[in-house]
This record gives sequence, structure tokens and C-alpha cells, in this order.
Amino acid sequence: MCGIVGYIGHKEAFPILVKGLQRLEYRGYDSAGVSIHQNPEELTIFKKKGKVQDLLDHVGDSDTSGNSGIGHTRWATHGPPNDTNAHPHTARLGKLSLIHNGIIENYESLRTSLESNGHDFVSDTDTEVLVHLIEEVQTRTSTTLCEAVQIALREVEGAYAIVVMDASQPDLLIAARKSSPLVIGVGLENEYYVASDATPIIEYTQNVIYLDDEEVAIMHRTDGLIIRNLDNVTITPEVHALELQIEAIEKGGFDHFMLKEIFEQPNSIQDSFRGRMSVQRNEIKMSGIDEHWDRWENAQRILIIACGTSWHAGLVAEYLFEDFARIPVEVEYASEFRYRNPIIRPNDVVIAISQSGETADTLAAIRLAKERGAHVFGICNVVGSSIARETDSGAYTHAGPEIGVASTKAFTAQLTVLTLIAMHVGKRNKQLSSARFSRLLVELNSIPEKVEQLLKQDDAIRNIALKFQHNENALYLGRGVNFPIALEGALKLKEISYIHAEGYPSAEMKHGPIALIDAEMPVFFVATADDVYEKVVSNVQEVKARGGRLVALVSAGNNDLKSLAEFVIEIPKCDQALAPLLTTIPLQLLSYHIAVLRQCNVDQPRNLAKSVTVE
Ligand code: AGP
Repeated sequence: MCGIVGYIGHKEAFPILVKGLQRLEYRGYDSAGVSIHQNPEELTIFKKKGKVQDLLDHVGDSDTSGNSGIGHTRWATHGPPNDTNAHPHTARLGKLSLIHNGIIENYESLRTSLESNGHDFVSDTDTEVLVHLIEEVQTRTSTTLCEAVQIALREVEGAYAIVVMDASQPDLLIAARKSSPLVIGVGLENEYYVASDATPIIEYTQNVIYLDDEEVAIMHRTDGLIIRNLDNVTITPEVHALELQIEAIEKGGFDHFMLKEIFEQPNSIQDSFRGRMSVQRNEIKMSGIDEHWDRWENAQRILIIACGTSWHAGLVAEYLFEDFARIPVEVEYASEFRYRNPIIRPNDVVIAISQSGETADTLAAIRLAKERGAHVFGICNVVGSSIARETDSGAYTHAGPEIGVASTKAFTAQLTVLTLIAMHVGKRNKQLSSARFSRLLVELNSIPEKVEQLLKQDDAIRNIALKFQHNENALYLGRGVNFPIALEGALKLKEISYIHAEGYPSAEMKHGPIALIDAEMPVFFVATADDVYEKVVSNVQEVKARGGRLVALVSAGNNDLKSLAEFVIEIPKCDQALAPLLTTIPLQLLSYHIAVLRQCNVDQPRNLAKSVTVE
């Protein structure tokens, strides 16, 4: 939540900041602002409620020249989205400018104490407290900006990624983080970029440093970069080479990032298993598992923790692990898990799933599980993210940057990696027969081609969307591995089209939701061939008998439901355990088209943000 960008060097800062904010807009889009060091001793601030484009309209022809600056795009936590609450914030002397991502939990007590020292506040934000606190330390102790930041941050409880600039020090930017991400790009000689993720940096430099918690980066136009912790101990940074290509973060001819990302799935699924499995050698290699095999071999239980779509991937994995590896699995919302004093034993293996690798609840749940001695395995998409760095071992999903707020290709990449792990563990602990292992390998290998076939039904799916675009409710039903796909289908629809949708196991329908069915209610049945197919057909009949409007996802060649359903979507045949990798695709397309038809902003749906770094 909230996007942060900063630049110091010899180039014009404003265009770099604006482009960076546009790339980070998926993190929050309630308001945007920049602060630029223009003349000696002067910072010029522009900020505006709304999108980056609203900020640009507000700036108009104003003078934006300057070689250092900071920019912010906000996802509101404290106070509504308006011009005043927009960042950057400044303190009473007007010399400091600060941008912040995170939440300052003790901001009220800090604010009261600052008010008693004569500080007045203009915004509702927790951030404004931070900049006043730094200024207070600076004036009280006449110390350097860096020391003032270190001292102030020692008083702060909560999460922060901040960048600060001081009007009287044109050659200096200070950044710091705790539990909110911050990446520093090392440009040409003494030229630095700083951002919430690497996307604003990639076109200028491949060399990045991921700041760790409680580290402060001092970026100086002539003296270079120094990293210290809050106790002023100097840290030697590790410079990483980015493997990101610029095309990966552009729309590439598609109307929306979401559509591009849906269509990328044949490749992204392949990228998730590339180098990890070989049909020829009949093997799967997962170094993150093998290096800690004693933990997996002795696992009495697997606990999966995640949020949102990643939690749905965990639900699918529950079926796979129990089926292939015969290890009991519990899947938990990270937010619930961390607050209910959970039972965690040292012989538990915890799998944390997160696209962004920054989700605050998942991160906190990981810390708790580690504290209690469990082995924690992370499945993340964003390379170098906090979860990737804090887990004991893990696997990247390699889906490439996902910019659309609604998760699509990251989900199928998570499913791919989880399938590989379940198969690998099942084979190694001898619960999965070699014959089934080999069959599954061949099947998994053919999934990208089958996804390609499904994407060819895009026009037909748009036609279905045309029929349902005006509905205000929808039900999604599925059983077994397809139950989490029903949940995910419903989540996709509600988050981007604002239609109320619910997912249920098909058989649960008669315990309540059946009361909702009338001639208007669309019911999306995931009914591919599997052990419970006949039962699902009975559930379909129950809906039909009550006049519901049926859309059925069936295995290719199945004609059973053609007479019952208004629309049938054929899913290429596959092993039932792999069906979620296919059945989710038409549901993604359906949500996408309905949202576009309803003129919703599919890439930046209202109230949401891609990376939920607040609890
Ligand atoms: C999915 O479409 C979401 N917008 C959301 O539910 C997301 O999956 C959730 O916030 C978890 O994010 P993470 O995978 O980055 O941890």
C-alpha cells in the first residue's frame, strides 16, 4: 500500500518521479504528490487528491526543474483521500519533506507530546507526526538529518518506509524502512533511485539494494551511499542485479494489465516449472525442499498461511498434499492465525504463500511460526521481497511482475509450484506411486498448451459476460479441488466488477444459499470430470429445478449438462488434481469482461491495493 519513489543525481527529477509513480500506482491511487528541491534552501511541493494524472493536471505548466525529489501515491489509512492528507508532508519550519508507506501505531501519543511542544498539525495522517518528530529532534539536538531520523525512528512503533529531504541540504536524501519494502537503485556515479519496488528503477539501472528492517540509507550526490542501522552501525550493502525486463511492466498492446496477465499464463505457468521438472528424466528438483528434507520428512502437519487469492491457492494445495504426500494440512488466513495463539510445533512445516511477499499479516504470521520453531517455506512472486527474505527456504513462482490488482497469473503460478512440491514430497516420502507421479508430470507439462486452448474461447466468454453484466449477485459452486476455484471465481468478480458474489462447495448450497436462487441468479458450476462429478450433476439439477441461470464448466466432450445450462464452457481434459490450473482461466476472463462492460477500472479497482502492507 502506498507507492514511494525518490531520486537524487544529475538528471531532471520530476519526470523520473512521475513515471515512477505511474508504475507504482497499483499500490494505491487515492492521491499523489511530489516534492522537488528547486533552488538552494527551497522545496516545491505539489499534491493532489486522485490519480497521478490529476497531479499532472494540477502541476500544469509550473516550474518543476530540480535534480532531486520524492514522490508518493497514497492508499488512505488515516484520514480520507484529499489534498491535505496527500504526501509529501512537511513540519512547522517547512524545511523537511517526507513520504511514508506503513502505519505509525503510536502516532496519537507522539502527536500529543509534539503538540505540547508547540507543533500544529494540518492533516489527519500518522505520517505528519513523523516529519514533525524528526524536525523536533533536529532542532532540539542540532544533530544531522540522518541522526535525527535515527533518533526519531527509535521512538516509533509500527511499520514504515520513508524518504526524507531537507531544504537546506540539496545533495542529500535519507530513506529508512521497517516492515514496509524499500529498494535502492544505484545509478551512475553518485546517482540514486529509491522506490517501494524495482519497477520505477528498472529503466535506469539494474543494480539494486534491498534495504533491511531498521536500516537507514544516506544517499549523497557527491559523497555516495552509506547504509547504517538505527544504532548508527555501518552496514555493507549487497548489490543485486535485477532480472526484470521493461516489457514485463508495460501493457504490450493489451487494454489492461489484467488481460495481458491472463493471456501470459501459458508462459508464466511454464516459467514456474521450467528447470524444476523434467518429463524425460521423470524427476522434479526443488532445492528449497531437498536442502531441508529432514524437516519435510518428519513433518507431522503442514500449515499453509496466506491471504486472499494466495489463500485460495493454499486451499487447492491442501487437497494435493493430502492426496499425494498423505500429510495432514491446515490452511489458515494469516490474519486469523496470528491473533489466536495458534498451536505450532517444531515438527510443523509452514508454507507461506504471497504474490507480493509484503503482505503484513502473512509476514507477521511467519515471524510467529519461526519464533515457535516451525520450518517456514515461502512461495513468493516478487524477488527480494520481505517474505522471500524472512522464510527459512522457499521457491519463487517466476510469474513475472503482476501489475493488475486482481491476481491472475500469480495464482496459477502458485498452483504450479504447490503442485510440484506436493508431487515431489509425495514421491520422496513414498506416498505417491511412481506410475501416478510420471502421469502427473506429463499432464503438468501439457497444461500451458491447454491454457492456450482455453484462451481461444475469449470471444465466447465475452458473450456470456454480455448476458450477465447487469446482475448484482452471482453464485460460484464447485467440489474438491474446484471448490477453491469457485471461491476464487467469486473473489475475482466482486473485486473488479463490484457484483456481490459468493463461492460455496456445491453440496453446501442446499444448506442455505439455495434460498437465493431465482430466475435472475447466475450460478457458475465448476463441474469437470472427477470422483464427485455425478454429485455435482445432482447439485446442478437442484438449481435448474428452481429456475436458476446456469453456466457450467465441463470437461471437453461432456454433453450431459448442455440441456440444463444456458452456457457451457469446455475445459480441456486433464488429471483431476490439475483441473484448477484450467478451470480458473475462464472465470478470470468472465470477471474481466463483466468489469469492462460495467466500465469499472479493472486494473485499479476502488478501495483496493495490490500489496496490503497494513494489518
Ligand atoms: C487478489 O486478486 C487480491 N487482490 C488479494 O486478495 C491478494 O491475493 C491478497 O491481498 C494477498 O496478497 P499477496 O499474495 O501479495 O500476499
